[in-house]
Amino acid sequence: MAKKMKYDVKDMGLADLGKKRILWADGDMPVLGLIREQFAKQKPLKGLRMSACLHVTAETANLARTLQAGGADLVLCASNPLSTQDDVAAALVKHFKIPVFAIKGEDRKTYYNHMTAALDHKPNVTMDDGADLVNEIHTKRSHEAKNIIASMEETTTGVIRLRAMEANNRLKFPVIAVNDADCKHMFDNRYGTGQSTIDGVIRASDVLLAGRRVVVIGYGWCGRGVANRARGLGAIVTVTEIDPLKAIEASMDGFDVCPMAQAATFGDVFITVTGNKHVIRPEHFRKMKDGAMVCNSGHFDVEIDIPGLKKMARSIRNVRPFIDEYTLPGNKRIRLLGQGRLINLAAAEGHPASVMDMSFAVQALSTEFAIKNRGKLDIKVHSVPRSIDEKVASLKLKSMNLKIDSLTPDQKKYLAESGEGT
Ligand code: ADE
Repeated sequence: MAKKMKYDVKDMGLADLGKKRILWADGDMPVLGLIREQFAKQKPLKGLRMSACLHVTAETANLARTLQAGGADLVLCASNPLSTQDDVAAALVKHFKIPVFAIKGEDRKTYYNHMTAALDHKPNVTMDDGADLVNEIHTKRSHEAKNIIASMEETTTGVIRLRAMEANNRLKFPVIAVNDADCKHMFDNRYGTGQSTIDGVIRASDVLLAGRRVVVIGYGWCGRGVANRARGLGAIVTVTEIDPLKAIEASMDGFDVCPMAQAATFGDVFITVTGNKHVIRPEHFRKMKDGAMVCNSGHFDVEIDIPGLKKMARSIRNVRPFIDEYTLPGNKRIRLLGQGRLINLAAAEGHPASVMDMSFAVQALSTEFAIKNRGKLDIKVHSVPRSIDEKVASLKLKSMNLKIDSLTPDQKKYLAESGEGT
């Protein structure tokens, strides 16, 4: 008799709705679809056991289907307690036979139990969004590290954690920094986070952004995207930074730049995208206007000092889904959106499929690369090969029906030789 599949999702009754959403997203993921067709024919991942810790969304479901088509025996768990789409999780189990351990709103204990369940699958390859699986293996199951051929990492915060492990000589297997591929961060982090963060703020609060003062904390790829999209909706945007170069860039991009201590006094909506901790803290809450909204779109829920806010508060009440209102002495109200977790995935649906198409195409091809090179990759954080970036970019361009020029033989020669000058 076939072994019964183990899984933990909220409600299997949601599976049919989830399937519709997965197929809808698939319609906007043509590059991943092509890779899936290729994988189904060539089975490059045959015999592999994979555990993936990703946001369980319709887009991730299509990546999971692709890895499965390539022959991988895959288990999925959530990379954030609030980002799971419960209907998608149920559909993956019922319609695609992929075990999922993820429930939206799960507590910390369940979150870690789900990760344990994914690792009990005994993977040879892992895939992370935030490096939690890699960290779990290194800290609690280090004897299993020898089984891992490679791990893929999806996000900036995860890559930072992994590079720190490498620098401290703690890393025990090769990892591939998918986030650092141009086809990933230039589009997903900028246009994906830009749109989905604003979507999350609006779905949570229904705020009109036109004429409002939005403060974007951090001007990396995500901050650039968020600041630009907020401006596009008519907000008056201020950027705060700790990096002089990024601050100059923000200023020359036309944004107001000032220290957080100043921005705190006038902002209506604060959005953190730094990857660092406590970039909004009690000294800032004290200066904020009554009714100020604060939210985060960085990977972890540490960017806003929520324990500090709790300590200051005389009372806390939930005023609408995804908004908790903290009343401070003097009756000033600070509104925290999405419990300080990724607002784009907590209150909205994460990045749209069209941009996840590129990120997840890089994920799938990087996994194939790691397997083709098993045993040959050094134990370190690897860049995605340029050929993968180029392949994904040209397939995406084609799917967008865009054509570009190519160099003439004369131009190629000109670039190859340095002789021709004034
Ligand atoms: N990260 C941001 N948006 C996402 C999405 N839609 N699916 C998976 N991971 C994401």
